[in-house]
Amino acid sequence: MKSVVYAMLIVILSINPVSVMAASEAPQFSTGGMVASRSVLASQVGADILAAGGNAIDAAVAVGFALAVTYPSAGNLGGGGFMVIHLADGTVTTNDHRERAPLLASKDMFLDKKGSVIKGLSTQSHLAVGVPGTVDGLLAVLEKYGTLNRTAVIQPAIDLAENGFALDRDLAGQLSRRLKSFAPYAASMDVYSNSGKPWLVGEVFKQTDLAATLKRIKKYGRDGFYTGKTADLIVAEMTRNEGLISHQDLATYRSVWREPIRGTYRGFDIVSMPPPSSGGVLLVQMLNMLETLDIQASGFGSAATVHAIIEAERRAYADRAEHLGDTDYYPVPVHELISKNYAKMRFADFDPHKASLSSDIGAGDIPYESPDTTHASIMDAAGNAVAYTTTLNLSFGTKMIAPGTGVLLNNEMDDFSAKENVANFYGLLGRRANAIEPGKRMLSSMTPTIVLKDGKPHLVTGSPGGSTIITTTLQVVINVIDHGMDVSDAVASPRFHHQWQPDRVVIEQRGLSPDTLSLLREMGHKEMVPVPGFLGRGIGDANSVMRTKKGIVGVADPRNAGGAVGMP
Ligand code: DON
Repeated sequence: MKSVVYAMLIVILSINPVSVMAASEAPQFSTGGMVASRSVLASQVGADILAAGGNAIDAAVAVGFALAVTYPSAGNLGGGGFMVIHLADGTVTTNDHRERAPLLASKDMFLDKKGSVIKGLSTQSHLAVGVPGTVDGLLAVLEKYGTLNRTAVIQPAIDLAENGFALDRDLAGQLSRRLKSFAPYAASMDVYSNSGKPWLVGEVFKQTDLAATLKRIKKYGRDGFYTGKTADLIVAEMTRNEGLISHQDLATYRSVWREPIRGTYRGFDIVSMPPPSSGGVLLVQMLNMLETLDIQASGFGSAATVHAIIEAERRAYADRAEHLGDTDYYPVPVHELISKNYAKMRFADFDPHKASLSSDIGAGDIPYESPDTTHASIMDAAGNAVAYTTTLNLSFGTKMIAPGTGVLLNNEMDDFSAKENVANFYGLLGRRANAIEPGKRMLSSMTPTIVLKDGKPHLVTGSPGGSTIITTTLQVVINVIDHGMDVSDAVASPRFHHQWQPDRVVIEQRGLSPDTLSLLREMGHKEMVPVPGFLGRGIGDANSVMRTKKGIVGVADPRNAGGAVGMP
């Protein structure tokens, strides 16, 4: 087992050369508004929208469309996402544009005749694709809370796709590393290779079909994607390849407005994403457990603090496997899970000196792919704030572009539990709550989060990273609230992760001192797996924004490229 993990790490290290930070990746300051995302170009689009008089919601929608062009491994039209919104008048809400299982999907669709999971079917096939939600979500958000029109927020993305942009090291690197996986798909090779050769840094990268799809959305709204030519092209691709998505699936897809998960932590309000994400529930549950301890006193990075966080994570992820799923299909006990009383009960057996044991249920490896979901944080001067996480699931989803659309198809179906207690790509287990059903949304870990202080947005954060999203977000919040860090340190500080099963702690290399590691080992944390640390890529990519007394500070996670752009 260990050798597999180390082999994986060596592969990751060799394909992820340490990147040099560009000036734009430094923390930014503005009194006017701020956008932080994995793509400087997309952040710039958002800042331009703010400068043109748009609010944070307009900016977030424009960033969403732009990311589909400038950060195609995760930004998308063919995937899904979650947006947590705080309005200046105090309203908080969320838009769920998570993918749904097609109407023809069924519980055992990824199993063979003997009942075993068919490897790869839920990640690399047309059956892997969930009904995309992003376009409906972004447009619904714009319509409800935006102030600008569709053209204003989509045109920047169209321009970037149509005229192209010079490739930076981040995207050129991603495209060339993935060349082999695009190779079987002509439509993907047409775009993501330069006539079969890898794209090079500085070359101009255009996406003509994607520009045309964006134009249809600009002209016809959701009908430009869910009906008409785009829908025809997507369904044709499905029909040719035994995929399930039909015209009916597309035409009936609707994003959903949901009440956020709300919690408190040491006087701050936490606003985060409800099911079908597990993120908000687990974040609040873990914060509730940790609130019973004096984390500030035990201090950042101490064995006592790390142990406490691991133990909270272990319990919360065990609950995730049993209880979390799409609330439209399964009675998730949300209120119980996020109550302070439940946390006290669940944490009552916490021993400050001794690790507890996760049960022995099958442990899969947690693969550390490059972060392929992406998170953007946006604040404007008026007090509006948006936390936005969006994804195709794995890097570039299925790697398949639906021919003629420029749209990458997601492989989100893998986020369902294909079989009880069999790990998905992220090593996550699930049971009935997250079983496949027609039309159901697969459980997510995405945790777009807004922390309020005295009712006003204080911190906007979230991350990619599959199962590690929730624990990354947790640590950013704790770093700010308990350890008093500024947003830059809170995001940059080393991270670790435990998800109950597999029973191991994953720690950014050199993130904890040898003394701390040996204390943790003595407490019974037997398996501690290092992953390439800070600048080697590490855990998560938490592009965040925080309000200070003097203005708004934005930071792109220094583990990866990207940038914060403030309003001039
Ligand atoms: O929704 C989820 O939880 C996953 N599909 C997120 C995937 C992800 O973060 C990929 N990045 N590493």
